Amino acid sequence: MRVRTDCRACRGKNLAEVFSLGEQPYANAYVRPEDLHQPEPVAPLELMQCDDCGMVQLKHVVSPDNLFRDYCFQTSSSSRMMSHFADLMAEAVDKYVPFDGIVVEIGSNDGSALASIQRPDIVRLGIDPAENLAATARTIGVPTISDFFTSSVASSVARELGKADLIVAANVLGHIDDLDDLFMGIKILLKPRGAMVIEVPELSRLVNGTEFDTIYHEHLSYFDQKPLSLLAARHGFQVVDFSRHETHGGSMRLTISHGNVKPCMASKLHDWHGFRQRCNLSRSRLMDFLTKQRLAGQTVWGYGAPAKATVRLNFCNVGTDLMPAIVDCTPQKQGRHVPGTHQAILTPAELLAQQPDVAVVLAWNHYTEIVVKEWEFVASGGRFCLPMTY
Ligand code: TMP
Ligand code: ZN
Repeated sequence: MRVRTDCRACRGKNLAEVFSLGEQPYANAYVRPEDLHQPEPVAPLELMQCDDCGMVQLKHVVSPDNLFRDYCFQTSSSSRMMSHFADLMAEAVDKYVPFDGIVVEIGSNDGSALASIQRPDIVRLGIDPAENLAATARTIGVPTISDFFTSSVASSVARELGKADLIVAANVLGHIDDLDDLFMGIKILLKPRGAMVIEVPELSRLVNGTEFDTIYHEHLSYFDQKPLSLLAARHGFQVVDFSRHETHGGSMRLTISHGNVKPCMASKLHDWHGFRQRCNLSRSRLMDFLTKQRLAGQTVWGYGAPAKATVRLNFCNVGTDLMPAIVDCTPQKQGRHVPGTHQAILTPAELLAQQPDVAVVLAWNHYTEIVVKEWEFVASGGRFCLPMTY
C-alpha cells in the first residue's frame, strides 16, 4: 500500500481530505469459512480532492495484485448490465469500426460485451487481469489477454494484432493508478482516426445520492467531466461525445479521439459537509430499522453481495445478529462470507427455502431486476426494501 500525493488527472499537489470511511476491509475479499477466524487485511478509505482541477481520489493505493487477480464480479450476472454493454458496443461499432476493424476492450471481464458484437468481420480482443474471468471469456470465443493494460501491453498488441479502431473501457479507469501510462498505451494502440469509449460512475451522482458504498479500495478515482477531460487532453485526446446513463448509480460516457480541442468547463463544487451528514444519517437509520425488526422477531437478510454491500455493512456496523445472511447469484461468492461483518453468502434458492421476512437489496442498482426475478419470495409474503428507504 502506498500514499498518492499528486493528482492523477492534472499532477498537481494541492490535495485536501474531504471524506473518510476509516479503516475498511477489501470489499471484494470474500472470506472462506475456514478463514473466518483469521485477521483480514484492512486499509483506510480516505477521499482527497484536488484544489486545482476538482479530481477526487483515494489517498491510499492498495497493490492491484491483492484486488484483481481473482475477481468475483461478473458482468453476465446482471441481464440489465449485459444489455447496457451490448448497446454500448453496438452503437460504438456502428459509428467507429470499418469492415475488418479491430475492437479492444480494457477490463473486458467475462467477455460478454465483446461477445455481443454481431459482425463476424471484426477482430476482438479482451484484456483483463482476472485469470478466472479471462478463462470464462475464452470459453465463449473471446480472445483475452489476462494482464493489466499498460503501455507495454499496448505496444505488443499493436505489433502483433495491429492498431485498434475502437477501444472500450467501461468501469475500469477508476481502478487504475497510473492513468498516464494507460493513456500512453491508448496513444500507441488507437488508430489515427479511431475512438475510445470510456464509461465511469459520475462523482456528482455519488455525492448527491449519498452513494458512499461505492467508495472502496478498487475505486481509486472518482471522476467528474472536467478532470477526466483534462486528463485526456494532457495526453493529446479530445472529447467528441458525452452522455449520461443510469448504470452504477449514475455514470457518464465519454468518447475521445486523437486531437487538441481543449476542454473549457468549470469545476463542480461538492457539498462534502452535507454528504458526511447524510452518510451518518443513513447509517443510524439502517441500524434503527434492523434493531426494530429484530425486536419484533422479524428476520432480515441482504440481497446482493457486491463490493458496495461490504462497504455499507462495515460502515454501518451491521453484524450477523442483525443480518445473518445475504443472497447472491454469483457462484464464486456463494459459500463465502462478507469481509469484516461475516454474513454468510447463500444462493437465491435459499431465500425461497428459508423465506426470511425482509430482504434488503444491498445491490440497489439492480433493485428492479431483482424484485422482478424474485416474485415468488414476494408472493410468499416476503418484502424487499432498499438500504436507504424501508
Ligand atoms: P454490482 O452492483 O457491482 O453490479 O454487483 C451486483 C451484485 O448483485 C453481484 O454480486 C451479483 C448480484 N446480483 C444477484 O445476486 N442477483 C441479481 O439478480 C442481480 C442483478 C445481481
Ligand atoms: Zn488535479
